[in-house]
Amino acid sequence: MDSLLDDFHRVVRAVLEQLPRDTGGPRLVDVLAAHLGLEPHTLAVVAAQVPPHRLVDADIALAEVAGDDPDRSLVGIAGDARHHMSLGDLVQGPGGMYGVGVPVGQVDYDRMPTGPGKDDRRQVVTSGIRLFRFGGRPVVVRQQGMNRQFGRESGSIEVMSAERDLSDALMARVQALMDERSILRGQVVTFGGDPYGPGMAGVTFVERPAVDAGAVVLPDGLLARVADHVVGMGVQRERLRAQGQHLKRGVLLYGPPGTGKTHTVRHLLSATPGATAVLLSGGSLRFIHDAAKVARAHQPAIVVLEDCDLVAEDRSFSMGATPLLFEVLDALDGLDAHADVAFVLTTNRVEDLEVALAQRPGRVDLAAEIPLPDLEGRLSLLRLYGGHLFGAEAMSAAAARTEGTTASFAKELVRRAVLAAALADEPPSDDHLGLALDELLSDAQRLTRSLLGVEADGRGGHDGRASGPRGFPHRPGRAVAMFGDSPGEGHPGPV
Ligand SMILES: Nc1ncnc2c1ncn2[C@@H]1O[C@H](COP(=O)(O)OP(=O)(O)O)[C@@H](O)[C@H]1O
Ligand SMILES: [Mg+2]
Repeated sequence: MDSLLDDFHRVVRAVLEQLPRDTGGPRLVDVLAAHLGLEPHTLAVVAAQVPPHRLVDADIALAEVAGDDPDRSLVGIAGDARHHMSLGDLVQGPGGMYGVGVPVGQVDYDRMPTGPGKDDRRQVVTSGIRLFRFGGRPVVVRQQGMNRQFGRESGSIEVMSAERDLSDALMARVQALMDERSILRGQVVTFGGDPYGPGMAGVTFVERPAVDAGAVVLPDGLLARVADHVVGMGVQRERLRAQGQHLKRGVLLYGPPGTGKTHTVRHLLSATPGATAVLLSGGSLRFIHDAAKVARAHQPAIVVLEDCDLVAEDRSFSMGATPLLFEVLDALDGLDAHADVAFVLTTNRVEDLEVALAQRPGRVDLAAEIPLPDLEGRLSLLRLYGGHLFGAEAMSAAAARTEGTTASFAKELVRRAVLAAALADEPPSDDHLGLALDELLSDAQRLTRSLLGVEADGRGGHDGRASGPRGFPHRPGRAVAMFGDSPGEGHPGPV
């Protein structure tokens, strides 16, 4: 019994230590009462959740709404209670927080990204209460960021005023402003990021890539066909709409790894400068519903689902395609057909998707195979990457010897030749190209070849079935690296 009492005392002491000390400052509940002219605990609270990628938008909208009142103020909440208590709970009972009385404290801020540049940041309120007048009447708005440590996966806005209608009107105004002023509009972003990293799980801005059509080597007419569907349809949106045609579109790019599916996506993004683009891949595919919402709110938009076979691969839940893949496909379908939104899916293993796609028809209206380059293609690639370094004959010979290899192989071959020349302290020559090719085709480089998308027997990985370098786990969240995996192209992805 004694030790039980001991434990009990220890628990009570621990609880008391959690509570805010009396700082001698004003109590929150008194500050709110003075502003509202009413006891706050009698008032209802209108609340809305704010997903992590909209926290900056919410801050911008709230600052703007409050900004109309020259007498506005912003106060903080002292103590740990600010992390886990709702506005209603904080002001309950005499003195607030069930009689304990929370003092006013400091406002918490976080610097959050607002664009791809390293200086694109905004100081965002992550714990604070705005007191101002809206439509001439006093309102109280509490603003909170997300906090994993306290189990909050999203932020929130809580509105308190004497009239429910007023609170609703304010909330509607804030939500409209969030869309109007959104920092996401016209940007290229990835969702998710590192689930273990601090302050992540929001949005990562990516520089819009600059890849012109000339830098994409594909069979005749293929790139134009894909671009017409994704880009051209947007350009013709008024005409299509006037003729009653729907604008929503889905494109599937499939083929072996290293053939330029991601490269093609980068081109599509650079050809649509004003469009909002959301890039999802691997684990971040679970944000598909958020991505679809952003796309709907910020048209014209492109949603890229990179390596979407990854969600088909996870068979832990069911036989065949997973619920997540169906979720992805349903999100494609859920969007209004007249929305100017293009979905672009890429996959190395189309056979894993076929069944699911067949079961959910109408999601994808153009499927384009991105094949291994043929002889002419391989020569074009060598010219593209090494044309300024090597002679026409040497490149023709190399193209002939590299049957079955991918576009990324050609790029790597040029890099190896330049490296060999640098190591020999010579300018790159045709000899270096030949030597680099010998080496890459040698037995010792089997694994390298397979990583570049060429099977170990030196033949292409494309035997009718699209195949990837099997046995190598795909890393989830690759979207982050998606624009940074091509050395020397000046688009380092956020890491
Ligand atoms: N068709 C292509 N034309 C020009 N360069 C290409 C092509 N395919 C791939 N590359 C080069 O190889 C790199 C890797 O290709 P990537 O687009 O990531 O392949 P995939 O997405 O099909 O696996 C690209 O960043 C680009 O530099
Ligand atoms: Mg890719």
